[in-house]
Amino acid sequence: MGDQSKHLPEEFKLERFLARYEFTAPYTLCCSDSQPLSQSEVLALADDECRRKWDQLSLAYTEPEGLPELREEVAKLYNGVSAKDVLIMGPQEALSIAMLAMLRPGDHVVVTFPGYQSLYQIAHTIGAEVSFWHMRADEEGRLVFQMSELRKLVRPTTRAVVVNFPHNPSGALLSLADWETLVEQCRAAGAYLFSDEMYRMLERDPGARLPAAAECYERGVSLCGMSKALGMPGIRIGWLATRDASLHPLIQRLHDYSTICNSAPSEVLALIGLRARDWLISANLDLIEANLGAARAFFARHSDTFEWYEPAAGSVAFPRLRTGEPVDEFCERLVQKSGVLLLPATVYEHAPSVAEGRFRIGLGRLNFKECLKHLEDFLQKEKESA
Ligand SMILES: Cc1ncc(COP(=O)(O)O)c(C=O)c1O
Repeated sequence: MGDQSKHLPEEFKLERFLARYEFTAPYTLCCSDSQPLSQSEVLALADDECRRKWDQLSLAYTEPEGLPELREEVAKLYNGVSAKDVLIMGPQEALSIAMLAMLRPGDHVVVTFPGYQSLYQIAHTIGAEVSFWHMRADEEGRLVFQMSELRKLVRPTTRAVVVNFPHNPSGALLSLADWETLVEQCRAAGAYLFSDEMYRMLERDPGARLPAAAECYERGVSLCGMSKALGMPGIRIGWLATRDASLHPLIQRLHDYSTICNSAPSEVLALIGLRARDWLISANLDLIEANLGAARAFFARHSDTFEWYEPAAGSVAFPRLRTGEPVDEFCERLVQKSGVLLLPATVYEHAPSVAEGRFRIGLGRLNFKECLKHLEDFLQKEKESA
């Protein structure tokens, strides 16, 4: 009997790893979201209109494109994008659906790598040819994506360029000049630019925020959502924004086969969160900044064991273990012995990062310093028993 799952995407390594430990390990130090809010914290932020919507909420089916007021609110995040250009759905769902809408078997796609697996896995499953745009460490040790490399990858026939800035897991960001060059390369090839902007609005320097793909390119598709900058991953609300009207019916056709429409309570909670975004994002950035300070001090104290790489943006960083021990074995031992969960580079399937011993840490949580303390205790105990 042949492999009955050959036509399916390969197992999502990062999600399977997290599913194994995330809800049992007491000190999760690798989360990519910002501190999740409670429902009562969100409701306390509601304006009168949203409070009424919440109190009178009907649990009926919702509009397939998303709650109209929510689409309006999302459109305000972008210049030149209107509510009709926005489709609301779960972020991961939106990512998969957009890939299915854009790509056909045999198409050529360029994807930033390492990265969130669905950014390339769905393309593989469709039968597209995937070229990876590899992250490198520059002379100063910063993790970067070089335009010289991208130039070699994009072909006149490339169907889509798929990028993720701020980048998971490195926190890398392009300069504005490089972003504009990227858009021009897509335009010259007539390629879609699918831009995973899940960590947008978490730029430590607001001046470094890139224009969204949906704003600056007629074939640009922006993915964003409530999980990272807004601390509401559990409501499963995200969106696709694109001015390419030809994609909308395809996306909607596929959405009719996934969730059809969104959860009514989640849409109202998302509307409340988005209307309070300035306050929420600034609180999350303050927390990331404080945690970065603690991370810098920690990694300086343990520079014999680790090497620290400062992220440019977002809520995650990608330091490395420098002891030579395979990073997945280190992470496994750490979680078993101390309950501290780090995410080893092996889940990203990126050989250079695995060879360098990289692992992801998350910077967005309130218990970050407590988790670091447990990691420090673990290192201390290992030293004592060596
Ligand atoms: C780069 C990236 N894209 C998409 C997603 C999916 O977002 P969500 O988990 O909210 O569906 C994630 C989640 O970690 C991510 O890191």
